[in-house]
Amino acid sequence: MIAPSQRFTKIPPYLFGEIAAAKRKAIAEGKDLIDLGIGDPDQPTPAPIIEALTRAAHDPQTHRYDETNAGWTPFLEAVSTWAKRRFGISIDPLTEAMLLIGSKEGLSHLAWSYIDPGDISLVPDPAYTVYKVNTLMAGGECHIMPCLEENGFLPDLTAIPTDVAKKAKLLWLNYPNNPTGAIAPIEFYRDAVAFAKEYNLLLVNDAAYAEVYYDDYRPVSVLEVEGAKDVSIELHSLSKMFNMTGWRIGFAIGNAEAVGTLNRLKSNLDSKQFPAISLAAAHALLELDNQPTLDLYKKRRDILCDGLTALGWNVTKPKAALYVWTRVPEGYNAMSFAKKLLEEAGVLVIPGIGYGQYGENYIRMSLTVMGDKNGELLTEAVRRIGAMAL
Ligand SMILES: Cc1ncc(COP(=O)(O)O)c(C=O)c1O
Repeated sequence: MIAPSQRFTKIPPYLFGEIAAAKRKAIAEGKDLIDLGIGDPDQPTPAPIIEALTRAAHDPQTHRYDETNAGWTPFLEAVSTWAKRRFGISIDPLTEAMLLIGSKEGLSHLAWSYIDPGDISLVPDPAYTVYKVNTLMAGGECHIMPCLEENGFLPDLTAIPTDVAKKAKLLWLNYPNNPTGAIAPIEFYRDAVAFAKEYNLLLVNDAAYAEVYYDDYRPVSVLEVEGAKDVSIELHSLSKMFNMTGWRIGFAIGNAEAVGTLNRLKSNLDSKQFPAISLAAAHALLELDNQPTLDLYKKRRDILCDGLTALGWNVTKPKAALYVWTRVPEGYNAMSFAKKLLEEAGVLVIPGIGYGQYGENYIRMSLTVMGDKNGELLTEAVRRIGAMAL
């Protein structure tokens, strides 16, 4: 067999491999596993969205290629209406919005649209791995921005060396954050936009969790900052917003030139999404919220965080996103503690090192727990962790 491309060798080894193997072993041994690993909504897509899909799928117009410029028109109009209602921002559906086949696809292709060999991406750590991997695959280099607990898991933009900032092309941000559950105040986005303007960067804000929030908190958009549209593109996803991960639909909004650039690449790569899915997504954006699911996540978050706090752990309740990110006890690192939880408590978590070197002493626990109806599996996870000798 011929060898894959040189760039293919830049893909780092799969860091979750060891845990996946341990999970297979535990299941084979008949262990009763509580899986706090995956961040994939366990609740079904709300019924009205499925009904909207059924209606749309009966329309033969949706059975053909989507030949629009950047996405089925009612979908992009719904995106614009939603952005106005949700963030108070004006988005031209014709030039400042485009459909994505999930935000992961859009994030990956943004790297491919902008990064030449030797170009620099400013990448947070810990982070969703897609920003880094696709920069590397495109031949670029990553300048790591540590996101430390003492800074609320926000990167310190002033710590980026001037020569690096001058050479960089993309500034990647993600709030509400995976894996830390951190949020970004509008002041941070103001600084980030000013930084992007000063150094002529494209600010890419991954807002996949913008609609997963708790209590009175509502995540903000970078596009709420005055002038942000000059330098920013923001990616949203229906995946976590409406329990639609398998449907593969998201959107990008913001700078028209960046939207056009990404769309030019994509129009040579894919033929958009099944229009019936676009119509169902438009219905969701215009008519629905996902409050029952958010209420369940909140309940699970409180059971997990209050339970671990009662055990003496130092746990911060996330205001948004799906994750509880917490330091491992003295004497462990991310991997050794994740293994211990799996082997001794039958609780699967993700070792923070999987998200970068600054995740070395952390684990991530997800609030999407398959099989949990009303928090009972989280209660049981806390009980088992409490029974474990540290
Ligand atoms: C931070 C972040 N961004 C983007 C995505 C991709 O979501 P999707 O491609 O389903 O829109 C995920 C998925 O877990 C994520 O955690």
